Amino acid sequence: MQIRVAQRKRGGPITHRGVFMALNSTKPSFLHRVVGTHQTSMEENGRGTCKDDSSLVFAINSQRFELRNLDDPSITLLQFLRSQTSFKSPKLSCGEGGCGACVVLLSKYDPELDKVEDFTVSSCLTLLCSLNGCSITTSEGLGNSKTGFHNIHKRFAGFHASQCGFCTPGMCMSFYGALVNAEKAVDDRLSKLTAVEAEKAIASNLCRCTGYRPIADACKSFAGDIDMEDLGINTFWKKGDSVQNKMSILPLYSPGDGVCDFPEFLKGQGKGGSLSSWIAPGNVKELQSLMKGIDHGDETRVKLVVGNTGVGYYKEEKDGCVERYIDLRYVPELKIIKKDETGIKLGAAVTISTAIKALKKESDEIYQKIAAHMEKVATSFVRNSGSIGGNLVMAQRKHFPSDIATILLAAGSYVEVLTAEINEKLTLEVFLERAPMGSKDVLVSIEVPKWKASQIGSRLAFDTYRASPRPLGNALAHLNAAFMAEISETSEGSVMSSCRLAFGAYGTKHAIRVKNAEEFLAGKKVTPAVVYETIGLVKSTVVSDEGASNPEYRSSLAVGFLFNFLSSFMADPFKGNASNGWLNGHSTAPDEDSEATQKSCHDGKSSLLLSSGKQVFQASKENRPVGEAIGKTGAALQASGEAVYVDDIPSPPNCLYGALVCSTKPLARVKDIGFKSNPLPDGVAALISYKDIPKDGENVGSKTMFESESLFADELTRCAGERLAFVVADSQKHADSAANLVVVDYDTESLEPPILTVEEAVKRSSFFHTPPFLQPKPVGDITRGMAEAEHRLINAEMKLESQYYFYMETQTALAIPDEDNCMVVYSSTQCPEYSCAAIAQCLGLPQHNVRVITRRVGGGFGGKAFKSLPVATACALAAHVLRRPVRTYVSRKTDMIMAGGRHPMKITYSVGFKSNGKITALKLDVLINAGISLDVSPIIPIHLVGALKKYDFGALAFDIKLCKTNHSSKSAMRAPGEVQGSFIADSVMEQVASTLSLDVDSVKTVNLHSHDSLKLFYDGICGEPHEYTLISIWDRVARSSSFNERREMVEKFNRCNLWSKRGISRVPIVFEAGGMATPGKVSILSDGSIVVEVGGIELGQGLWTKVKQMAAFCLSSTKCEDSLLERVRVIQADSLSLIQGGITAGSTKSESSCEAIRLCCNLLVERLVPLMEKLQKETGSVRWEMLISQAYMTSVNLSASSYYVPDFATTRYLNYGAAVSEASLSRSRVLHTKLVEVNLLTGETTILRSDLVYDCGQSLNPAVDMGQIEGAFVQGIGFFMLEEYKTNSEGLVTADSTWRYKVPTIDTIPKQFNVEILSSGHHQNRVLSSKASGEPPLLLASSVHCATRAAIKDARKQLHTWGGLDGSHAMFNLAAPATMPVVKELCGLDSVESYLKWRMNHK
Ligand SMILES: Cc1cc2nc3c(=O)[nH]c(=O)nc-3n(C[C@H](O)[C@H](O)[C@H](O)COP(=O)(O)OP(=O)(O)OC[C@H]3O[C@@H](n4cnc5c(N)ncnc54)[C@H](O)[C@@H]3O)c2cc1C
Ligand code: FES
Ligand code: FES
Repeated sequence: MQIRVAQRKRGGPITHRGVFMALNSTKPSFLHRVVGTHQTSMEENGRGTCKDDSSLVFAINSQRFELRNLDDPSITLLQFLRSQTSFKSPKLSCGEGGCGACVVLLSKYDPELDKVEDFTVSSCLTLLCSLNGCSITTSEGLGNSKTGFHNIHKRFAGFHASQCGFCTPGMCMSFYGALVNAEKAVDDRLSKLTAVEAEKAIASNLCRCTGYRPIADACKSFAGDIDMEDLGINTFWKKGDSVQNKMSILPLYSPGDGVCDFPEFLKGQGKGGSLSSWIAPGNVKELQSLMKGIDHGDETRVKLVVGNTGVGYYKEEKDGCVERYIDLRYVPELKIIKKDETGIKLGAAVTISTAIKALKKESDEIYQKIAAHMEKVATSFVRNSGSIGGNLVMAQRKHFPSDIATILLAAGSYVEVLTAEINEKLTLEVFLERAPMGSKDVLVSIEVPKWKASQIGSRLAFDTYRASPRPLGNALAHLNAAFMAEISETSEGSVMSSCRLAFGAYGTKHAIRVKNAEEFLAGKKVTPAVVYETIGLVKSTVVSDEGASNPEYRSSLAVGFLFNFLSSFMADPFKGNASNGWLNGHSTAPDEDSEATQKSCHDGKSSLLLSSGKQVFQASKENRPVGEAIGKTGAALQASGEAVYVDDIPSPPNCLYGALVCSTKPLARVKDIGFKSNPLPDGVAALISYKDIPKDGENVGSKTMFESESLFADELTRCAGERLAFVVADSQKHADSAANLVVVDYDTESLEPPILTVEEAVKRSSFFHTPPFLQPKPVGDITRGMAEAEHRLINAEMKLESQYYFYMETQTALAIPDEDNCMVVYSSTQCPEYSCAAIAQCLGLPQHNVRVITRRVGGGFGGKAFKSLPVATACALAAHVLRRPVRTYVSRKTDMIMAGGRHPMKITYSVGFKSNGKITALKLDVLINAGISLDVSPIIPIHLVGALKKYDFGALAFDIKLCKTNHSSKSAMRAPGEVQGSFIADSVMEQVASTLSLDVDSVKTVNLHSHDSLKLFYDGICGEPHEYTLISIWDRVARSSSFNERREMVEKFNRCNLWSKRGISRVPIVFEAGGMATPGKVSILSDGSIVVEVGGIELGQGLWTKVKQMAAFCLSSTKCEDSLLERVRVIQADSLSLIQGGITAGSTKSESSCEAIRLCCNLLVERLVPLMEKLQKETGSVRWEMLISQAYMTSVNLSASSYYVPDFATTRYLNYGAAVSEASLSRSRVLHTKLVEVNLLTGETTILRSDLVYDCGQSLNPAVDMGQIEGAFVQGIGFFMLEEYKTNSEGLVTADSTWRYKVPTIDTIPKQFNVEILSSGHHQNRVLSSKASGEPPLLLASSVHCATRAAIKDARKQLHTWGGLDGSHAMFNLAAPATMPVVKELCGLDSVESYLKWRMNHK
């Protein structure tokens, strides 16, 4: 490999075997001076000036900061907070405004009104320079362990709302922003916020662990209108406590607690920026003269800015070369909000949130609807700083798929544009159609006229629409639309005098009006024939540009929305009046409808809440505190943001930062890799590649029990996403920017084409081998089973796609060289032992030279197991070569490109069955795409078959191939293989039921295992008959969910509604789990405090909490008088302190770690008991401290280690559960404070309700297990319904951001979510009778998919009656994820046209 060595800007290059580096390069110096807490005198700068002595003054958590002359004005608040202050609670997770992990509260003082405005912003997009005079509050500023936690922290902890904790400070701040704005409190424990508002406050924040329900409860506990009975499991009150009692126990909330008092020292601070790189003109003239002054060629270096949120989308602008910003926020003409009888004028710099407030104040329905639509634009913390002008400029200049452009276009808006010379007023339509605005042009204002009907007797109608994967926003629309019409009611029906039909965001340049359709409709009576013809015109105009995704779907959305709008003007064919009869169907029975809605949604309680639910469990008192639902260790620390993750560890002096460079080609020779520019990009110190691996080392980045994987590609890259090199620079920002500038010269000449499909892998016999001990065993005689069948389905096919982990904390590590060729590596990993081995092998060091430390991990889900190793190894290698600390925090994009994720697969099966649905034989051929290297893929087949066998298939045979392809290697993701196996089994049931026209639930029931068949399928691990709880769970979930009654309701609902369909489904699961060998160590210190080390890693799953409970329980058998729980501290994992830690995966590491601790404690108890007995004799009762101090005096060994090795014969066992889910192919939306089912033509699914019953044996901690069950289920919803981990044709991940990859948010979880943990009593071979909870419940989410399928089935039946489908409509495959386009396609992309044609023929 050739590295082009070029001159560095600062400090020359020093070459070293392919490495160029500047050993003495200084700390990143983006600022010159930070002045601490005391105020320094400062000259008040006039706005628009660029003085050299200029400065920026702001406060963070009341501390004063003053900065002078920023080298890099594009530095964000988050970068500043995390690199220059001790406030680490705002986390980086996406860096693009899409997740909420970085949210802070920004407060501004308005001297004219003597008022402080508080609002949340995403600190990852907020420019530091924009903060002059502002006060910032972070979660640790609300409260902390030193000054006392804030009540939000306490309630988040008490309601079990924090698991890994990485999202928690951002959640707290998003909620605090809503709380602080909710006027004055109604009483001292509750605020004026409503429960609905409390939920919405966190609707834009992502959490990958909890499933949101507990977070919603923590927030709702502050709501003035909350019914305490509706709040879930918490540590504050016990079951049966009175409401008064509950109220009195909740940590006191006082709105005026002074947290957010605006610092007096900021009140006199000038408003705008006052740095030479930041200019805030005070009026249009100043602005104009500034714009004129920009030299030709300098345009790209000067940028107009308001909220800077645009860089969340146009990320390249982040790395750009902006040297000077012109802040538009202080130009009065751009801040104006003027209302009169002609309309409302909004300055372009008015934020979307302010515009919403202004519009909402108006009684005009059009304004109300525009405001309601704007509430779904972006996220709350983006709307608070993002301006409407910024949005429209992005739409006009860069073709951003804007909502605001579309709705304002339909509302006939005008814009005012200021160019260097002139001030123009033009229609928004002309503005959008023009050539992109010049860089010196300024959008000044937007005017939305007030519309009135032009004739007496006519009325105006206006509505807006958007179809997106998340109902409440934080997702771009597949298409948006807004329509305005003037309607005259005549004796013959509704006549449309005129209309404006606007469509946007459908994969074209900008929003448009469909003028030919508008003209066609003008003066026409709205009849089915007219609507049909209009639709034709719209369809031929609303056409996505070439290459846009889902073009047919988007066209069908345009049709659907227009039909939705126009049908309200068509006379109901049966009632004769204009209503939405056309939409709802001929037999709409409102009473039945609403009864069904309520029954399904809220168990009789009409509610507008996004989520509610019940949690049922029995806390075991036998082994206290084991079995108690105690709160998660460190939850309040996580909420306040004081919990330390790897990236929160302060950088050691001289630290460098790395960024990985990945291949974009699936198979190519890497001829050259380097930078084109000379000098090198800012701050770059080295470009590390495989050539830098030490002589004694090896090119190893990851080591599993099966194979090693290279750290970097050598001459050949074998998949897109493969690591090629590691850029090392003086800051993470510089490293990330430089990684984007690396140029790789590929050559594919004379190479075979890459293998990019499993079919191609089969053709070229490209397979991995599965070792015999991991090969699943067939069951029974497949030939006989097939022969016994009365019906057969032969070679049915299905495909399953991948899933990305989306841990909120991306991969990260910090490597610090230590004396004598040692290396200390802090890594966010699920397996420090393996990290240590990989690093040692790569560096050619003995393992005792490498210490890997892991305290906590911000979410893992399997992705921080072997996939974390190369990241830590790259840091260690760079640190080893450069002899300096090196850290990295992998960007979300790179993380998504490298991760691999879940295994995609193709399944072909043949199934034989009887007429009653009883299956006699199932034969499968499964092609698993394992990617380029083995990783842990050999475990997938056995996991897949393990979960597939949940039904009695009579005989089962399979041929499972692990295909080696040129994709990034797939790895274990929560329930690896099992989720696919379980889903395949249910899909077989669905197809069998469809073939026989039987009810699918009865087919499932008839195929459930008896204990005898269970024994056959799960040889040796099925346990005693009483341990097989699935049959009772199956009945129990039917009862608790009123399954049969609700099935009837669903049928009734579907008969009554043409455009909304529901489905309900029950799904069982069987999941194999097994313990793992795990070490433990317990030491008692002289003051009686206890320190515990375990092999297991705290990933958010509550492992530490369970371990603490176990230690307290076991040590309490010394019979001392005290409770020991609070004395136990579990400490970070350290690969040299406790060896053989193994991997934290497979759902059983908590149990195994507990068992290891039990063994240690037993040893300690054995040593302490004689002393205890002696002391008891002498003094009667004995306190713990006394016992321990005596033990110290008498030299009792108070440290014990163990290595728990589960008994091979009994370690594996089965877990059982079942779920009922009800899904609706419609969106419930709040309209005039009533929950209504909106006719849905978009393919959107709402999960109305899910009921889960899961057997946890005897839960070690029901609160922790409840969190695991709910969180896993919601992650499963992501897999089955939402998450598309897409790649391009070369296998390069294109779903590489929060824009393109949609994990569930609170508005996509079940509206009612009921979970029962079944305590199934004594299980002899389990750790205190407990069973796993981490992974199995994820499988239950297929109930949502099956329910959706049931709803689609009814939709297709109906489409068949309209002539839109043939007789085979019942046989179909619903892909996973069942995204909106997928569902809509199955329901008929042209269902509206079919319906209208059918109607026209059946007058
Ligand atoms: C996570 C996220 C989700 C989003 N989702 C949606 C969505 O669903 N629907 C939707 O419509 N939008 C969405 N947006 C876009 C959002 O509305 C815009 O980012 C925001 O309105 C831009 O305003 P700003 O003040 O931050 O602009 P800035 O980022 O400050 O500026 C954006 C661009 O416009 C230029 N500019 C700004 N104001 C002017 C002006 N007055 N005259 C001339 N040039 C100007 C700037 O130079 C820059 O090039 C989303 C944004 C984010 C970050
Ligand atoms: S990190 Fe700022 S919103 Fe995700
Ligand atoms: S607790 Fe929310 S992401 Fe882990």
